[in-house]
Amino acid sequence: METIVSNPISLLYFRTAAVLLIVGMFYGIYMSASGNHAAAAAHAHLNLIGFVVMAVYGIFFGLNPDRSTGRLPKILWALNTIAAVVMFPSLALLLNGHPSFEPLVAAASFLALGGAILFAVVLFMPKATA
Ligand code: HEM
Repeated sequence: METIVSNPISLLYFRTAAVLLIVGMFYGIYMSASGNHAAAAAHAHLNLIGFVVMAVYGIFFGLNPDRSTGRLPKILWALNTIAAVVMFPSLALLLNGHPSFEPLVAAASFLALGGAILFAVVLFMPKATA
């Protein structure tokens, strides 16, 4: 029986989620230690988009191997990963008084939204595309 770990796409999502969770937790500990909570929303979005959303996508593909083939799951992974990786530092800088990073935060937000739309496409299409 195929498990989440034996499904390469699901494993990719979970490995990425684990790495981003560690980064997010380090930043949480940094905030606690420094007392600078200005970028709490950046920490929250890294943990939520980078770990929670990523893991939910990974669970879905692990449970539905027929939907985990083709290009769409890989494009979805790329969109969500780039969104989390770009949003975290740019939002942290924005919230620490650097408004010039706002366009980057906006771009990352639309990448995350694009991922969510692609996830809906994967769910609504009759069967996986090659
Ligand atoms: C080592 C683990 C973690 C530490 C040390 C940590 C630390 C913190 C700190 C210091 C804040 C700011 C609180 C404030 O200013 O009121 C915060 C906010 C937050 N954290 Fe974490 N956190 C951790 C893990 C997580 C995880 C795993 C998630 C989500 C999956 C998460 C989600 C949030 C959210 C949603 C907020 C509120 C953000 C906001 O008020 O804008 N955190 N965390």
